[in-house]
Amino acid sequence: MEFLQVENLCKVYGKGENQVTALDHVSLTIEKGEFTAIIGSSGSGKSTLLHIMAGVDIPSSGKVYLNGQDVYAQNNERLAIFRRRQVGLIYQFNNLIPTLNVVENITLPILMDKRKVNKKRLNDLLELLGLEERRTHLPNQLSGGQQQRVAIGRALMNAPQVMLADEPTGALDSRNGHEIVKLLKESNRKYGQTLILVTHDENIALQADRIITIADGRVVRDERQVARS
Ligand SMILES: Nc1ncnc2c1ncn2[C@@H]1O[C@H](COP(=O)(O)OP(=O)(O)OP(=O)(O)O)[C@@H](O)[C@H]1O
Ligand SMILES: [Mg+2]
Repeated sequence: MEFLQVENLCKVYGKGENQVTALDHVSLTIEKGEFTAIIGSSGSGKSTLLHIMAGVDIPSSGKVYLNGQDVYAQNNERLAIFRRRQVGLIYQFNNLIPTLNVVENITLPILMDKRKVNKKRLNDLLELLGLEERRTHLPNQLSGGQQQRVAIGRALMNAPQVMLADEPTGALDSRNGHEIVKLLKESNRKYGQTLILVTHDENIALQADRIITIADGRVVRDERQVARS
Protein backbone atom coordinates (compact mmCIF):
# COMPACT_ATOMS: atom_id res chain seq x y z
CA MET A 1 0.00 0.00 0.00
CA GLU A 2 1.26 3.47 -0.83
CA PHE A 3 1.57 5.17 2.47
CA LEU A 4 3.97 8.06 2.17
CA GLN A 5 4.36 9.48 -1.28
CA VAL A 6 6.73 12.19 -2.44
CA GLU A 7 6.11 13.54 -5.93
CA ASN A 8 8.51 15.69 -7.92
CA LEU A 9 9.73 17.44 -4.84
CA CYS A 10 11.98 20.46 -5.37
CA LYS A 11 13.49 22.74 -2.77
CA VAL A 12 15.46 25.82 -3.69
CA TYR A 13 17.00 27.91 -0.94
CA GLY A 14 18.09 31.53 -1.32
CA LYS A 15 18.09 33.91 -4.27
CA GLY A 16 20.43 34.96 -7.08
CA GLU A 17 24.04 33.98 -6.56
CA ASN A 18 23.26 32.31 -3.26
CA GLN A 19 20.62 30.05 -4.73
CA VAL A 20 21.02 26.39 -3.82
CA THR A 21 18.92 23.56 -5.23
CA ALA A 22 18.70 21.21 -2.25
CA LEU A 23 16.14 18.86 -3.80
CA ASP A 24 15.78 18.35 -7.52
CA HIS A 25 12.60 16.50 -8.53
CA VAL A 26 12.61 13.77 -5.91
CA SER A 27 9.87 11.13 -6.18
CA LEU A 28 9.52 8.26 -3.73
CA THR A 29 6.92 5.89 -2.38
CA ILE A 30 7.32 4.46 1.10
CA GLU A 31 5.17 1.58 2.25
CA LYS A 32 3.57 1.32 5.66
CA GLY A 33 5.81 -0.35 8.21
CA GLU A 34 8.87 -0.17 5.99
CA PHE A 35 12.30 0.67 7.41
CA THR A 36 14.17 2.84 4.93
CA ALA A 37 17.68 4.17 5.30
CA ILE A 38 18.69 7.32 3.44
CA ILE A 39 22.36 7.78 2.69
CA GLY A 40 24.39 10.28 0.69
CA SER A 41 27.27 12.68 1.10
CA SER A 42 27.15 15.86 3.15
CA GLY A 43 25.03 18.56 1.53
CA SER A 44 23.20 16.12 -0.76
CA GLY A 45 19.76 17.06 0.58
CA LYS A 46 18.97 14.33 3.13
CA SER A 47 17.90 16.60 5.99
CA THR A 48 15.93 18.81 3.61
CA LEU A 49 14.00 15.77 2.37
CA LEU A 50 13.28 14.57 5.90
CA HIS A 51 12.13 18.01 7.07
CA ILE A 52 9.75 18.33 4.12
CA MET A 53 8.32 14.86 4.76
CA ALA A 54 7.81 15.91 8.41
CA GLY A 55 5.90 19.04 7.48
CA VAL A 56 8.49 21.43 8.94
CA ASP A 57 10.02 22.84 5.75
CA ILE A 58 7.86 23.93 2.82
CA PRO A 59 8.68 22.55 -0.64
CA SER A 60 9.36 24.96 -3.53
CA SER A 61 7.29 22.64 -5.71
CA GLY A 62 6.03 19.08 -5.68
CA LYS A 63 3.82 17.18 -3.30
CA VAL A 64 3.94 15.05 -0.17
CA TYR A 65 1.04 12.73 0.58
CA LEU A 66 0.51 10.75 3.77
CA ASN A 67 -2.32 8.22 3.57
CA GLY A 68 -3.50 9.98 0.45
CA GLN A 69 -3.67 13.35 2.18
CA ASP A 70 -1.84 16.25 0.52
CA VAL A 71 0.29 17.45 3.47
CA TYR A 72 0.96 20.98 2.19
CA ALA A 73 -2.60 21.59 1.01
CA GLN A 74 -3.59 22.01 4.67
CA ASN A 75 -3.77 25.38 6.35
CA ASN A 76 -1.13 26.26 8.94
CA GLU A 77 -3.23 25.13 11.85
CA ARG A 78 -3.89 21.68 10.33
CA LEU A 79 -0.23 21.41 9.35
CA ALA A 80 0.84 22.07 12.94
CA ILE A 81 -1.52 19.34 14.13
CA PHE A 82 -0.13 17.01 11.44
CA ARG A 83 3.39 17.63 12.76
CA ARG A 84 2.40 16.99 16.34
CA ARG A 85 0.26 13.89 15.77
CA GLN A 86 1.28 12.05 12.62
CA VAL A 87 5.04 12.26 12.50
CA GLY A 88 7.91 12.00 14.93
CA LEU A 89 10.99 13.89 13.79
CA ILE A 90 14.35 13.41 15.44
CA TYR A 91 16.53 16.28 14.29
CA GLN A 92 20.16 15.85 13.27
CA PHE A 93 21.11 18.39 15.90
CA ASN A 94 18.74 17.86 18.74
CA ASN A 95 16.50 20.76 19.42
CA LEU A 96 15.36 20.38 22.97
CA ILE A 97 13.95 23.41 24.74
CA PRO A 98 16.75 24.46 27.12
CA THR A 99 14.43 25.77 29.82
CA LEU A 100 12.30 22.63 29.99
CA ASN A 101 13.29 19.49 31.85
CA VAL A 102 13.37 15.94 30.47
CA VAL A 103 9.70 15.12 31.12
CA GLU A 104 8.54 18.54 29.90
CA ASN A 105 10.53 18.20 26.68
CA ILE A 106 9.19 14.71 26.00
CA THR A 107 5.56 15.67 26.62
CA LEU A 108 5.68 19.08 24.91
CA PRO A 109 3.84 18.08 21.69
CA ILE A 110 1.05 16.52 23.75
CA LEU A 111 0.70 19.51 26.06
CA MET A 112 0.70 21.86 23.06
CA ASP A 113 -2.13 19.77 21.70
CA LYS A 114 -3.99 20.21 25.01
CA ARG A 115 -4.19 16.45 25.37
CA LYS A 116 -3.62 14.39 28.47
CA VAL A 117 -0.26 12.76 28.96
CA ASN A 118 -0.46 8.98 29.15
CA LYS A 119 1.57 8.51 32.35
CA LYS A 120 2.14 4.84 31.76
CA ARG A 121 3.53 5.41 28.31
CA LEU A 122 5.72 8.21 29.64
CA ASN A 123 7.11 6.02 32.42
CA ASP A 124 7.67 3.09 30.07
CA LEU A 125 9.53 5.34 27.66
CA LEU A 126 11.68 6.89 30.39
CA GLU A 127 12.62 3.42 31.51
CA LEU A 128 13.33 2.23 27.98
CA LEU A 129 15.51 5.28 27.36
CA GLY A 130 17.31 4.95 30.68
CA LEU A 131 16.15 8.40 31.76
CA GLU A 132 14.07 7.64 34.89
CA GLU A 133 16.72 9.16 37.14
CA ARG A 134 16.91 12.28 34.98
CA ARG A 135 13.24 13.27 34.84
CA THR A 136 13.72 16.80 36.15
CA HIS A 137 17.13 17.52 34.63
CA LEU A 138 17.50 20.31 32.10
CA PRO A 139 19.15 19.54 28.73
CA ASN A 140 22.44 21.21 29.73
CA GLN A 141 22.63 18.87 32.73
CA LEU A 142 22.60 15.82 30.44
CA SER A 143 25.23 14.11 28.33
CA GLY A 144 24.97 14.31 24.53
CA GLY A 145 23.64 10.77 24.34
CA GLN A 146 21.05 11.43 27.03
CA GLN A 147 19.91 14.58 25.20
CA GLN A 148 19.51 12.57 22.03
CA ARG A 149 17.48 9.98 23.91
CA VAL A 150 15.19 12.75 25.17
CA ALA A 151 14.68 13.87 21.54
CA ILE A 152 13.83 10.28 20.65
CA GLY A 153 11.44 10.07 23.60
CA ARG A 154 9.66 13.17 22.38
CA ALA A 155 9.32 11.67 18.90
CA LEU A 156 8.08 8.32 20.29
CA MET A 157 5.72 9.69 22.95
CA ASN A 158 2.91 10.23 20.46
CA ALA A 159 3.35 6.78 18.88
CA PRO A 160 3.39 8.46 15.45
CA GLN A 161 2.72 6.50 12.26
CA VAL A 162 5.97 7.72 10.79
CA MET A 163 9.28 8.15 12.53
CA LEU A 164 11.81 10.33 10.73
CA ALA A 165 15.27 10.18 12.27
CA ASP A 166 18.08 12.39 10.99
CA GLU A 167 21.38 10.78 11.97
CA PRO A 168 20.08 9.95 15.44
CA THR A 169 23.35 8.26 16.32
CA GLY A 170 25.68 10.90 14.89
CA ALA A 171 26.73 12.29 18.25
CA LEU A 172 26.89 8.97 20.10
CA ASP A 173 29.53 6.36 20.77
CA SER A 174 28.95 3.05 19.01
CA ARG A 175 27.37 1.33 22.02
CA ASN A 176 24.82 4.08 22.65
CA GLY A 177 24.29 4.44 18.92
CA HIS A 178 23.55 0.75 18.64
CA GLU A 179 21.04 0.95 21.52
CA ILE A 180 19.18 3.80 19.85
CA VAL A 181 18.92 2.00 16.52
CA LYS A 182 17.70 -1.07 18.38
CA LEU A 183 15.01 1.02 20.02
CA LEU A 184 13.85 2.51 16.73
CA LYS A 185 13.83 -0.90 15.07
CA GLU A 186 11.80 -2.38 17.91
CA SER A 187 9.27 0.38 17.53
CA ASN A 188 9.23 -0.27 13.78
CA ARG A 189 8.65 -4.01 14.13
CA LYS A 190 6.44 -4.16 17.18
CA TYR A 191 4.08 -1.35 16.28
CA GLY A 192 4.47 -1.39 12.51
CA GLN A 193 5.73 2.16 12.68
CA THR A 194 7.21 3.36 9.42
CA LEU A 195 10.85 4.31 9.96
CA ILE A 196 12.95 6.54 7.74
CA LEU A 197 16.46 7.02 9.00
CA VAL A 198 19.29 9.15 7.63
CA THR A 199 22.71 7.76 8.43
CA HIS A 200 26.35 7.87 7.43
CA ASP A 201 26.89 4.53 9.13
CA GLU A 202 26.94 1.64 6.68
CA ASN A 203 26.27 -0.93 9.41
CA ILE A 204 23.06 0.86 10.32
CA ALA A 205 21.96 1.27 6.69
CA LEU A 206 22.45 -2.45 6.12
CA GLN A 207 19.84 -3.22 8.79
CA ALA A 208 17.11 -1.47 6.79
CA ASP A 209 14.62 -3.04 4.34
CA ARG A 210 15.62 -0.51 1.76
CA ILE A 211 18.47 1.90 1.11
CA ILE A 212 17.91 5.13 -0.84
CA THR A 213 20.97 7.08 -1.96
CA ILE A 214 20.71 10.82 -2.54
CA ALA A 215 23.28 12.82 -4.49
CA ASP A 216 22.97 16.50 -5.44
CA GLY A 217 19.33 16.56 -4.44
CA ARG A 218 18.34 13.53 -6.53
CA VAL A 219 17.62 9.90 -5.83
CA VAL A 220 20.45 8.06 -7.55
CA ARG A 221 19.90 4.61 -6.10
CA ASP A 222 17.02 2.79 -4.46
CA GLU A 223 17.62 -0.78 -3.37
CA ARG A 224 15.64 -3.28 -1.40
CA GLN A 225 17.61 -5.64 0.77
CA VAL A 226 16.65 -9.29 0.82
CA ALA A 227 17.39 -10.25 4.38
CA ARG A 228 17.86 -8.05 7.37
CA SER A 229 19.14 -8.73 10.81
N1 LIG B 1 18.20 27.06 5.28
C1 LIG B 1 19.03 26.92 4.24
N2 LIG B 1 19.38 27.99 3.49
C2 LIG B 1 20.19 27.86 2.43
N3 LIG B 1 20.72 26.70 2.01
C3 LIG B 1 20.42 25.60 2.73
C4 LIG B 1 19.57 25.65 3.88
N4 LIG B 1 19.44 24.40 4.37
C5 LIG B 1 20.19 23.61 3.59
N5 LIG B 1 20.78 24.33 2.59
C6 LIG B 1 21.64 23.79 1.51
O1 LIG B 1 20.93 22.73 0.88
C7 LIG B 1 21.79 21.65 0.60
C8 LIG B 1 21.26 20.38 1.25
O2 LIG B 1 21.35 20.51 2.67
P1 LIG B 1 20.94 19.35 3.67
O3 LIG B 1 21.01 19.89 5.03
O4 LIG B 1 19.66 18.78 3.22
O5 LIG B 1 22.12 18.29 3.40
P2 LIG B 1 22.41 16.89 4.12
O6 LIG B 1 22.41 15.85 3.05
O7 LIG B 1 21.49 16.70 5.26
O8 LIG B 1 23.91 17.10 4.63
P3 LIG B 1 24.64 16.54 5.99
O9 LIG B 1 24.98 15.09 5.70
O10 LIG B 1 25.86 17.40 6.07
O11 LIG B 1 23.71 16.71 7.13
C9 LIG B 1 23.18 22.05 1.09
O12 LIG B 1 23.94 22.48 0.00
C10 LIG B 1 22.91 23.19 2.05
O13 LIG B 1 23.97 24.11 2.03
MG1 LIG C 1 21.73 16.62 7.31
